[in-house]
Amino acid sequence: MDLYSPIFTRASTRKFDSSPLPADTLSQLEDFISGLKPLLSDVKLKHKIVSGSEVKGMALPKAPHYLLIFGKKHPLRDTAAGFLYQHAELWLYAQGFATRWLAGVKPKEADPDYIIGIAFGKPAVPTVRRPEEFKRKPLEEIERGVDSRLEAARLAPSGKNGQPWYFIVDGSRVYTYCRTGSGSLFGKMYGFTDLDVGIALCHLAVAGEHEGKEFRFAVMKEGAPVPPSGYTYVGTVE
Ligand SMILES: Cc1cc2nc3c(=O)[nH]c(=O)nc-3n(C[C@H](O)[C@H](O)[C@H](O)COP(=O)(O)O)c2cc1C
Repeated sequence: MDLYSPIFTRASTRKFDSSPLPADTLSQLEDFISGLKPLLSDVKLKHKIVSGSEVKGMALPKAPHYLLIFGKKHPLRDTAAGFLYQHAELWLYAQGFATRWLAGVKPKEADPDYIIGIAFGKPAVPTVRRPEEFKRKPLEEIERGVDSRLEAARLAPSGKNGQPWYFIVDGSRVYTYCRTGSGSLFGKMYGFTDLDVGIALCHLAVAGEHEGKEFRFAVMKEGAPVPPSGYTYVGTVE
């Protein structure tokens, strides 16, 4: 399955066709997710695929399916969730389906482990775009040093398109950082910047696989270069 091409054409949608996907597509999605390599083996994540009658939230797009993501307490739980389930988002695009990460969706039945959800289904209108149509920061605002995989990371989706990631390349290492706090009210209220960084790391990993590069992620703060002010260390890709 080519997950690399959708990185350069994908776009979130709020306009889904209401018809459900065939059961075998949902089971292929489950098989795909269960075969994924997690960012960190000690982060326990799980998910449920449910219909619109099982979720609540303000101003939700109406989709036939919602993938609800849960995880046990861990400092990098949300980053690991963004990493793992962005692969699922790309898989859905690769099959011609449409998606939208939703910070505002919740299961009707409360669960203390619940993190976030993704709406998905058939697109009601085409959801493809050209790379130049992406509204993203230029590479020089998100990287120090050069690594060919960072263009894919740059194009990653993030809550309110905040793009809270920063990368410092040093030899074969890519040190990864997350923006902490932001002057805006939204920046203060938005709680998923670390998850956004996991999404960008997924794009980096997929681009690496495309280039035949291995992806190993570890937290080893000692020796990490000092990032621009307002950013904090997340982990290192080798
Ligand atoms: C973690 C996360 C949370 C998001 N939450 C919402 C949301 O609550 N409501 C919404 O309409 N879009 C939400 N989005 C979609 C973003 O607004 C969208 O990804 C971003 O504007 C970039 O656009 P693109 O996905 O088309 O590239 C979310 C995206 C991410 C990655």
